Amino acid sequence: MANKSLVSITDYSKEKILQILNKAAEFEKNPNQPLLQGKVVATLFFEPSTRTRLSFETAVNRLGGRVIGFSDASTTSGTKGETLKDTIIMVSNYADLIVMRNPIEGAARYAAEVAKVPIINAGDGANQHPTQTMLDLYSIKKTQGKLENLKICMVGDLKYGRTIHSLIMAMSHFNPTFTFIAPDELKLPEEYKMFCKENNIAFTEHDELTEEAISDADILYMTRVQKERFTDLYEYEKVKDVYTLRNKLLENTKPNMRILHPLPRVNEIDYDVDNNEKAYYFEQARNGVFARQAIICDLLGL
Ligand code: CP
Repeated sequence: MANKSLVSITDYSKEKILQILNKAAEFEKNPNQPLLQGKVVATLFFEPSTRTRLSFETAVNRLGGRVIGFSDASTTSGTKGETLKDTIIMVSNYADLIVMRNPIEGAARYAAEVAKVPIINAGDGANQHPTQTMLDLYSIKKTQGKLENLKICMVGDLKYGRTIHSLIMAMSHFNPTFTFIAPDELKLPEEYKMFCKENNIAFTEHDELTEEAISDADILYMTRVQKERFTDLYEYEKVKDVYTLRNKLLENTKPNMRILHPLPRVNEIDYDVDNNEKAYYFEQARNGVFARQAIICDLLGL
């Protein structure tokens, strides 16, 4: 790899994670600084996004940089047959850093190998979403005052949810206990369970979202069923509304417990929950600007 890139959350050591979180806290206090003046950041989104692209672009704009890119790959020369390799080499000619989302697992690693500038993986298929993980960690630390020894309950699409996969790996530095709640069709893949076992991380698995299963959680991490990853939409229809979090279910949860969700939400959190003091998902998305400012500045050596 020619350049320092952020492709997987495992590219960051525990020390680097903590350093980025500290930088993010500084950016939250002062998000408008001219650190990226003269720099161009490319945002290449081969897959839809609201939060990730706009928070990256906000992060760059608030730091005085410029943004180029696309949010719809159908407007690019990829439709004429240009390869990902050629696209990345070309954009390396124009930008100092590339943020890329792509539906293919491993696309970000490949891009990092051919790019002349750093690549940030903004999500590659069901694989990894490391910048989401950094804002998740930031949100967890902000709401719990620590990252160590927390009970984290993950609910929904644990099979295709890349934010789940990245977060499990990142939390392995901090002695978590996991509760995984998913229907059979969307259970956590074996490789991540193996990862937990190899790292002595305690976990339990459940089929049902019950009061008992979430009663000792510090973080309740809800996820959407990832329709775009299903090859058979009949299979999606069977599980799409498997869980809906409602206020009634939250009545006996711990006072410090906070609900996170990478968003977008579909039916998995009832709108009434938005007014519950334990709902944190919109603030979580706001934290993405500061986490991404810290990541960009680190990769550019600023
Ligand atoms: N959390 C997240 O990746 O959201 P978007 O798909 O809107 O970017």
